Amino acid sequence: MVPILDEMEAYASLNNIPIMQKDGIAFLEEYIRKNHVYKILEIGAAIGYSSIRMANISEKIKVVTVERDENRYKEALSNIKKANKEKQITLYHMDAFDLELEEEFDLIFIDAAKSQYIRFFEKFKKNLKQNGTIISDNLSFHGLVETDKESESRNVRGLVRKLRNYISFLKDNEEFETTFVTTGDGIGITKYKK
Ligand SMILES: C[S@@+](CC[C@H](N)C(=O)[O-])C[C@H]1O[C@@H](n2cnc3c(N)ncnc32)[C@H](O)[C@@H]1O
Repeated sequence: MVPILDEMEAYASLNNIPIMQKDGIAFLEEYIRKNHVYKILEIGAAIGYSSIRMANISEKIKVVTVERDENRYKEALSNIKKANKEKQITLYHMDAFDLELEEEFDLIFIDAAKSQYIRFFEKFKKNLKQNGTIISDNLSFHGLVETDKESESRNVRGLVRKLRNYISFLKDNEEFETTFVTTGDGIGITKYKK
């Protein structure tokens, strides 16, 4: 393991920053390697952990990522520098809904506000290459999405409902088809229908 990644995992755990779970990130890395993914758009950088791990796979990989929280953005900037990945990772400090991109990507990785997944999907699908993939993380939301047991927190209940709506949106989509895997916190792998 690269030392900076160890440090980032410890920092995230200490400061309650939700970075990808170990088996989730391993799945993503494997997917990138196997499917010749070179251009990646990530929605939700946090402190730059997953973007650095994706960029570490190959020097040919370019990642564009966005973070709206100022402290996390600054931390991500510093981590990207420490990891010497400035040439491969472009980090924007803004709300993803204000980010206008013309380019197309092999992979769009959605890992930001769970309540907004349908909006992220609708906004960025125009940036997906015809044979590209949209990967969405946290579809299981710590197992709460699949269970009938209601959470006591109104906020959590709202998020779970929105994630269920997103899953239905993916399942019923006429343009795209999605495979769901239980790895990590639940991942959706979406591609254009053939
Ligand atoms: C789960 S974390 C990202 C973790 C990161 N992908 C990793 O695994 O290292 C989600 C991040 O998305 C950011 N976020 C949420 N909604 C956003 C939005 N609309 N625009 C930009 N960033 C957003 C949050 O501030 C948070 O830091």
